[in-house]
Amino acid sequence: MLPFTALAHPNIAFIKYWGNRNEILRLPANGSISMNLDGLDTRTTVQFDNSLAADVVRINGKFSNGGEQVRVSKFLDQVRILANLRLFAHVESENNFPSGAGIASSASAFAALALAASRAAGLEISPDREETSNLDKDFDQMALSRLARRGSGSACRSIPGGYVEWLAGTSDMDSYAISIAPPGHWDLVDCIAMVSTGQKNTGSSEGHALAGTSLLQASRVEDAPRRLEICRRAILERDFTNLAEIIEEDSNLMHAVMMSSHPPLFYWLPATMAVILAVREARSQGLQACYTIDAGPNVHVICTAAVADETSRMLTGIPGVREIRTARVGGPARLVQNPSTRQDEI
Ligand code: DP6
Repeated sequence: MLPFTALAHPNIAFIKYWGNRNEILRLPANGSISMNLDGLDTRTTVQFDNSLAADVVRINGKFSNGGEQVRVSKFLDQVRILANLRLFAHVESENNFPSGAGIASSASAFAALALAASRAAGLEISPDREETSNLDKDFDQMALSRLARRGSGSACRSIPGGYVEWLAGTSDMDSYAISIAPPGHWDLVDCIAMVSTGQKNTGSSEGHALAGTSLLQASRVEDAPRRLEICRRAILERDFTNLAEIIEEDSNLMHAVMMSSHPPLFYWLPATMAVILAVREARSQGLQACYTIDAGPNVHVICTAAVADETSRMLTGIPGVREIRTARVGGPARLVQNPSTRQDEI
């Protein structure tokens, strides 16, 4: 069968996904909102092959085994079921950014894998659900987002483009992400203050499972519709003041849950706190910048494009900040031409 290559961007959550109602289906405790990160990409090629006795997975040039391989194979099982296919696959995936350090590599990884694997398995993506007659093959963007969600929750938000909301839903069928505004709607920039490039100690999947052990999680989840509404509105109205306040509150709430779980999860380093304080101080002086932090020590500083250079300069001067990466608002997951070398390889 033919190889297919897909590209997807990671995303940074403004309103966070933390905790599942259903761990297997990855049905989240609450809805979430994010921005795709342009210029940071995962490229994944998938080819089903009848000569294989197992899936062969290569990530960033290294053959995977153990947990990583099992997670990809389990995901491919979903695709095989949907496509009624019994073949194993070659999977080759590359990131142009470090994995496991607070830039959600699992999001872009499973979004790219969902698109490449579904196409390689012969499933079609139709932009218009209504007109698709064969429902088994009705593989539109919502279905793709639902599929990506099964690999990694946040991956469902890397399928549509721009500013994206993951509707928590009530079941597998209605838990998927939609675009709430295209990339060009508002020129925000994520200046990622890298304070560490090492792998985090506790991965998100383990962390989600601990969320319910915090006394604070129930309140965080109960209040989520309010935060989602404020965030959605701030994006649609390009209201930076409201966006900044709600993003920081939501990030603080998630980290409060993490820190009060059993066992507690501490993702921050001293430099993380230094960046938080510097960003808040700069905003009080008028800089349109605010922070949000995922399950790692690096700080995503969201600012308007007009002040991105100034924000990067300010961050560079903070002790403990090693490097700044910037990303504008990214588009959707998409198919790309197969590089000929890679096609020869598989
Ligand atoms: C803190 O999507 O990485 O980045 O579904 O287990 O792969 P799995 O978790 P993942 O969790 C992301 C958690 C977060 C917040 C967010 O992106 O919403």
